[in-house]
Amino acid sequence: MAAGGKLQAPRGTFDVLPEDGRRRSQLRALSEELFEPAGYGPVDTPIFEATELFARGVGETTDIVQKEMFTFEDQGGRSLTLRPEGTAGVCRAYMEHGMHKQPQPVKLWYWGPFFRHEAPQAGRYRQFNQVGVEAIGSDDPSLDAEVILLLSELLTRAGAQGVRLRLGSLGTPETRREYSDELRDYLRSREAELSDEVRARLDANPLRAFDSDHPGTIAVVKDAPKLLDRLNEEDAAHFAEVRALLDEAGRDYEIDAALVRGLDYYTRTVFEFTSDALGAQSGVGGGGRYDGLISQLGGPHIPGVGWAAGIERILMVSDVEVPGVGPDVYVVRDGGGAVTEFKALGALREAGFTAQMEQAGRSVKGQFKQADRLGAKSVLVVGADTLSVRDMNTGDQREVPDIAEALAALKEVLA
Ligand code: HAM
Repeated sequence: MAAGGKLQAPRGTFDVLPEDGRRRSQLRALSEELFEPAGYGPVDTPIFEATELFARGVGETTDIVQKEMFTFEDQGGRSLTLRPEGTAGVCRAYMEHGMHKQPQPVKLWYWGPFFRHEAPQAGRYRQFNQVGVEAIGSDDPSLDAEVILLLSELLTRAGAQGVRLRLGSLGTPETRREYSDELRDYLRSREAELSDEVRARLDANPLRAFDSDHPGTIAVVKDAPKLLDRLNEEDAAHFAEVRALLDEAGRDYEIDAALVRGLDYYTRTVFEFTSDALGAQSGVGGGGRYDGLISQLGGPHIPGVGWAAGIERILMVSDVEVPGVGPDVYVVRDGGGAVTEFKALGALREAGFTAQMEQAGRSVKGQFKQADRLGAKSVLVVGADTLSVRDMNTGDQREVPDIAEALAALKEVLA
């Protein structure tokens, strides 16, 4: 290994520093406050899973499985993958723990890191974090509406700017197969105008044409037949019900007949929240119904619906603000002896004050400066034979006989 090179975090990853970390904690608290009362319980699945879970769950023809997974072999020769998304793992856990025996639907929420080998840019990372919910075990349209409204509310509470909701329906796999054939025929009729990538995928997944940013493809796709016009009666009724419930809740949305999601497991409802405040990566969060996923993973036919949102992207477009709060008390060491400073610090914390003490060898003057920089509300000066309490607001300082009196004086100062 070459010595002396500068060590940096891997490409597409980032460090979370305290200010950012506090905003994340705040967003996590907002999430929990929203999900728990709605009956969603926390779930945590492993960061790595058998590769097969994603191949079967997310879909062999998706970009995620074809080129974005961090896959490795363990010492036993098993192929493992850092999870690129959470739904497949949550469904595996649902089956593995027999959650279908609990009262349905089972409602879950999660928060954590995910990994995709994408080209890094603003808002797009190789290790990123998602918050998500999954409601498994019922195909009732009210669940679709409920999860959509939960994300809507989370974005509102986070103060996200310029948020829009796009809504579509993909129907059943059968409808989609028939529609795929129809779309493929149409695209073939104008093949010369399509991008190489879309042309190469025509057989496997013609729907991906709707994802393209190639001008020729966009023009062709504009006149293409729409899946939304091909839904069977039941799916159309389900979609109408979801829309009616969102209307009733006063949640605006745009119908997007060409909404394509990057994962293959979706059936019926699909949706995406975008923000005008984001650049090219405008997706803040998205999801949909996945009624065939659990059976695809080898389980019974059990429907589900959910979403995930990028935590970095929410924070990019929102004003979740956590002002750094200075300590109640800063312990200044001025010769020590009356009590040891460290003991004073312990007593302060035990009494419920937020407290810090000098730990970098500063002069007394330097220590007061430091207390000021930290925004400390008061200072406890521990001298050789004296203890004194200073109100940092007024500058008043007075001597106290012992630590008990110091605590009482500080309580007054901080009141
Ligand atoms: P997804 O649309 O692939 O869906 O990802 C959801 C969100 O994760 C995106 O809207 C975006 O905010 C964020 N995200 C995705 N990739 C990156 C990245 N490379 N860097 C930063 N943020 C990113 C899913 O993952 C599905 N599991 C959602 C779902 C749950 N569907 C049903 N249930």
